[in-house]
Amino acid sequence: KIVLVEDLSLPTPIKSKIVRLVNYRDKRVRVCGWVHRKRDQQDIMFVVLRDGTGYLQVVFTGQTNKTYDAVTLQLEAAIELTGTLKLVPEGQKAPGGHELVVDYWKVLGPAPGGDDAFTNKLNEQSDPSILADNRHLVLRGETASNVLRLRAALLSAFRSTYAEHDVIEVTPPCLVQTQVEGGATLFKLDYYGQPAFLTQSSQLYLETCLASLGDVFCIQESFRAENSHTRRHLSEYTHLEAELAFINFDDLMTHIETVICESVDKILANPATTALVKTLNPSFTAPERPFKRMSYSDAIAWLNEHGILHEAEDAEGNTLKDADGKPVMVPHAIGDDIAEAAERQMTDIIGKPVFLYGFPAELKAFYMQKMPRKEGETGPVFTESCDLLMPNVGEIVGGSMRIADGPELLAAYGREGIDPKPYYWYTDMRKYGTCQHGGYGLGVERLLAWMANRYTVRECSLYPRWPGRATP
Ligand code: 4AD
Repeated sequence: KIVLVEDLSLPTPIKSKIVRLVNYRDKRVRVCGWVHRKRDQQDIMFVVLRDGTGYLQVVFTGQTNKTYDAVTLQLEAAIELTGTLKLVPEGQKAPGGHELVVDYWKVLGPAPGGDDAFTNKLNEQSDPSILADNRHLVLRGETASNVLRLRAALLSAFRSTYAEHDVIEVTPPCLVQTQVEGGATLFKLDYYGQPAFLTQSSQLYLETCLASLGDVFCIQESFRAENSHTRRHLSEYTHLEAELAFINFDDLMTHIETVICESVDKILANPATTALVKTLNPSFTAPERPFKRMSYSDAIAWLNEHGILHEAEDAEGNTLKDADGKPVMVPHAIGDDIAEAAERQMTDIIGKPVFLYGFPAELKAFYMQKMPRKEGETGPVFTESCDLLMPNVGEIVGGSMRIADGPELLAAYGREGIDPKPYYWYTDMRKYGTCQHGGYGLGVERLLAWMANRYTVRECSLYPRWPGRATP
């Protein structure tokens, strides 16, 4: 049995993360990480080490390849390696262009082989529910970790864009006793004997910050008890919301477009994050500005011109079925909600970001500012609201101008059957120096699904939650 002993006459190693190794070519270094890949040749073992900051090719030769640990080394074992960092021989490729030639190493945390081996727990073909149960292991894969890395870069790009526009970050509460987006999707809980909810949106709190901090944003989890098993719905998602004072509706849409484009530009200006985008989504290019804007009424006409139908419903909102049990499909009419399927078809045909704006008040939340009605106009009242739709994903942003007038807000509570009492603090905004203001919420996982070209938002959340799934 060969026991490896470190040669203490060699230079003291420099401890480094993989991403920083380029500074230490031809030096003796010490690196820790996990065995990502392993390949055995006759007298030589190649390992790709992963430490979260990057990947490193490692060469084990001579004694270092003959120990018991070397013979029994398994994927995902945690190891500590010491050796010299060498440029890879001409014509060969390795991450960073160099490889570590090991002179001493040890196993810090072994991983099992056999039935329990990492590769037997997971593979690309695994059933989605097995992958979901093993999300903690899936995260070690290149694709999943790249998505999370891009997510971190995006959040940091947004933070710096907001700072450049003097929008400051606040952290509103998750435990709330008021609703924002309708009672149907609230997660209710017992709060010291009182009813409370998990927040659906921090919007109302952001509005209260305007007179204190000026324009504000937050990156906070929102919760929706929606029984939607779709590619773009989560029960908990990361909600990037902002609120701006003394703006009009046009300013609001311009701001949304600016913040998204400047943040995307920051990602593409950095070689490391561009590489992430290109790996995940090779054909990605920054969207052209200005974004297309289409009114809700024009969108209804557009859907009908393109033969995009929707499911007919009876007066109770039940889907009508034909004799074969298939849903009856009918053209869209003003007043209809544009369902996810129609919206997706539309964005896929248009193929670039598009703002839909001016939705009927009946389809939207109580707080939205109404558009002024022209003389003699009938039909639905429209709102200063907008959704930003992206190809492959659909709606990624929902925003609007807010009712600034106190009595109008009280009437809006009334129409929605909301008791104004618990909203006294929100109503007070209209009492103490009201102003024209508006804001929006952006679904971070949806933005990421667009940028990283993921099939579902579930791939864009660390530990996604959807109906029936709150583990791991
Ligand atoms: O359109 P929503 O419901 O708007 C609001 O909550 C506003 N109060 C936001 C505001 O004005 N401050 O949600 C905003 C965005 C959507 O466009 C979507 O991207 C995302 O939040 N979103 C979801 N993402 C994943 N799963 C869900 N169940 C989502 N529901 C909304």
